[in-house]
Amino acid sequence: MTSKEIRNSFKEFFRSKGHQIVPSAPMVIKDDPTLMFTNAGMNQFKDIILGNSPIKYPRVADSQKCLRVSGKHNDLEEVGHDTYHHTMFEMLGNWSFGDYFKKEAIDWAWEYLTEVIKLDTNRLYVTVFEGSPEDGLERDIEAAGYWEQHLPKDRIINGNKKDNFWEMGETGPCGPCSEIHIDIRSDEERAKIDGATLVNKDPDVIEIWNLVFMQYNRRADKSLEPLPAKTIDTGMGFERLCMAIQGKKSNYDTDVFQPLINAVAKLSNTTYGQDKKKDIAMRVISDHIRTIAFSIADGQLPSNAKAGYVIRRILRRAVRYGYTFLNQHNAFMYKLLPALIETMGEAYPELIQQHTLIEKVIKEEEESFLRTLETGIKLLDKQIAETKSKNSTILNGIDAFTLYDTYGFPLDLTELILRENGMLVDEDGFKSEMQKQKDRARNAAAIETGDWVVIKEGEPEFVGYDYIECDAEILRYRKIKQKNNDFYQIVLDRTPFYAEMGGQVGDTGWLIDGENKVEVIDTKRENNLSVHLTKQLPADITAHFTAKINTENRTATECNHTATHLLHEALREVLGTHVEQKGSFVSPQVLRFDFSHFQKLTDEEIRKIERIVTDKIRQNITLDEARRVPIAEAKNMGAMALFGEKYGDEVRVIRFGSSVELCGGTHISSTGRIGSFRIINESSIAAGIRRIEAITAVACEEFFYAQQDIISELKTLMHNTPNLVQAFQKFFEENTEMKKRIEEYMKEKTVQMKEYIIKNKQIINGVETFSQRGHLPVEAMKDIAFQIRGEYPKASAFIGGTDNGGKPTLMLMLSDDLVAQGFNASQIVRDAAKHIQGGGGGQPHFATAGGKNSDGLDKALQEMFDKLK
Ligand code: ALA
Repeated sequence: MTSKEIRNSFKEFFRSKGHQIVPSAPMVIKDDPTLMFTNAGMNQFKDIILGNSPIKYPRVADSQKCLRVSGKHNDLEEVGHDTYHHTMFEMLGNWSFGDYFKKEAIDWAWEYLTEVIKLDTNRLYVTVFEGSPEDGLERDIEAAGYWEQHLPKDRIINGNKKDNFWEMGETGPCGPCSEIHIDIRSDEERAKIDGATLVNKDPDVIEIWNLVFMQYNRRADKSLEPLPAKTIDTGMGFERLCMAIQGKKSNYDTDVFQPLINAVAKLSNTTYGQDKKKDIAMRVISDHIRTIAFSIADGQLPSNAKAGYVIRRILRRAVRYGYTFLNQHNAFMYKLLPALIETMGEAYPELIQQHTLIEKVIKEEEESFLRTLETGIKLLDKQIAETKSKNSTILNGIDAFTLYDTYGFPLDLTELILRENGMLVDEDGFKSEMQKQKDRARNAAAIETGDWVVIKEGEPEFVGYDYIECDAEILRYRKIKQKNNDFYQIVLDRTPFYAEMGGQVGDTGWLIDGENKVEVIDTKRENNLSVHLTKQLPADITAHFTAKINTENRTATECNHTATHLLHEALREVLGTHVEQKGSFVSPQVLRFDFSHFQKLTDEEIRKIERIVTDKIRQNITLDEARRVPIAEAKNMGAMALFGEKYGDEVRVIRFGSSVELCGGTHISSTGRIGSFRIINESSIAAGIRRIEAITAVACEEFFYAQQDIISELKTLMHNTPNLVQAFQKFFEENTEMKKRIEEYMKEKTVQMKEYIIKNKQIINGVETFSQRGHLPVEAMKDIAFQIRGEYPKASAFIGGTDNGGKPTLMLMLSDDLVAQGFNASQIVRDAAKHIQGGGGGQPHFATAGGKNSDGLDKALQEMFDKLK
């Protein structure tokens, strides 16, 4: 079977068992502070498992894009060095939410593996949880019993908490699990060593499927509480399954990776399977290109913070391997995109649709890192020279760490270059620097989250599309400690507060209980719950509150949000339909809109866009909101879904005339209320991505007033002339003319000055000494000094001082024979400069110094004379 057939057969099998097949959720997670990337198929169902959201389909199956590069599940360092770990991989999974449990999960997994895709039953082993005294849990005899219906006892192996108790993160849903392993060794090898002894010990007996029986929620204090409904959560490594079915020994030998491996080999003129190090590099690159391309398609660009930084580091890891082991000194990763699209474009069309953008972003990111890499190599050369000059052959840990941290050099790259120079690195020193940095990061980010304190059971309801205030009770709250600040997160049974989502900031407002008012400083969404952030708890947490939002902020935000939709439509009209939203931010003060477009907007384009938006404002178009529209119908209405966003089957559609968007945000009732709209900034934020910042309503008014004030001030400066532009033109013309005349005047004056200086020269100890003390510009004085030097090449000196319009300057020029005798103009000037509170220097034959105190000029000149004497 090809990988495509395998993926489809899995979905078909579970469809036949009554499962709803759902799409893969985006890889980048937006509403869960405990998780940056999707690291398991169950992430998108976490709110259902926790009981925060209703169960829509009790049985679900899918193929999910996963990323294991941060947090509890992080495989990054293994990737490339072995043949079965990946940063991004696909997880095939089936779920039951309060429906079937262990028996069906086990029976169907066995049926699929042995009857549908017909793996050799003799090669399969399973594990069951052996129990954990510290958690008060016993061996999973129930699961063991079901397995015994399918395979002999000696192929059912006990596993410990590390392998057989699955947890999504430090807290959250968890439970015992059973893993299915397959022995991929040859018959001879199998005859020699029993596969059962190699489970979880040897990669040739490899885990392919994990069946998790979710029963608990791990709380912050580490205790376990039962989940509202028992859940089945299974995950099968798609690439490993392909390997097993296709009879390969490595994931990279399957049709999932071969096209990529071949493309890398072709680019770097090598063959896979000939050189250990080159093979690792080829595996690293073929793995990482998938992660990077899919992240960008999901809207996560490489950057310097959070998820973006993780992506940046992965890309750099690949570039470094290419640079060191495959001799790729120019950007090359972006050239692998066609090969990736060929294997995965059909299942994941976002790769095809965003092809140009992905390529551009990767290429620019590669090029900028290669420049850093080269700077780093130069720095390392310098460090090597310095180390050698101290007769040492060991580079210190701090230097190696700087290279790692600032220039992205992994230790192995530094070691490689050092070895070529007969040197080593102080590894302990490096590790200790690394530890220090980790400690610093941990302290900076230290947030302690307490467990929820439940006041009342209930399903929270959001009423903020229709109301600005409502009656509310607290369902639960918890305390958050960050540095020296304590916050509280409060969940209400009913709330008008919009929780930050889709770029729109969360509402602020108050919880009011009679005289007592607690301020809500922000509202965020966590695992589908609206969480209100306060600095203190209300005095009576069981009170009946009025929850009331700050309407001034909300209205300003709504003006900006609606304007964002109008802007989106205008951009597509003016620039073309390649414009796609890549991000947005909507607050009371400003709106920001990021979109794909490949060049800077011209002033005319910006005006045109502003005019279209303003025209829509004046048309005073009424909001047309539809709340539970089936997604297919919404798309038929012309609404565009964004990549990287998670949509349900039913969506909310926001229409303002011809602008149709899928949107969960809040909007102004009619466009006229926006008043005005202005673009205040247009810039590039990444290759192929531009950002517009704009303002509306009151912010526009303030902006216009500020502009008007500037013009008024300029008018006053220009004596209230009726035509400001003409007045400025005239002013500049006069200014240019005046400069020209001053230059001419100065030239004449310099000639006269020089004559005067020559006439007044003194002979000091046989040296012809010329001097000048006055108000000449420095350039003119320098000119005179050099002319004199030309005319009096022997035994001459020029001593000058000018107050130069409040910037006193000293000057000393000596003929070459004086320099030969040991006089140093630079030294003399520097010493004399103390009288004018300044400093300077130059060369032995010519030096100048500038200062602050013109009153000291005479003293300074006197000192220079004295020195020469
Ligand atoms: N959630 C389980 C895993 O990721 C299936 O292994």
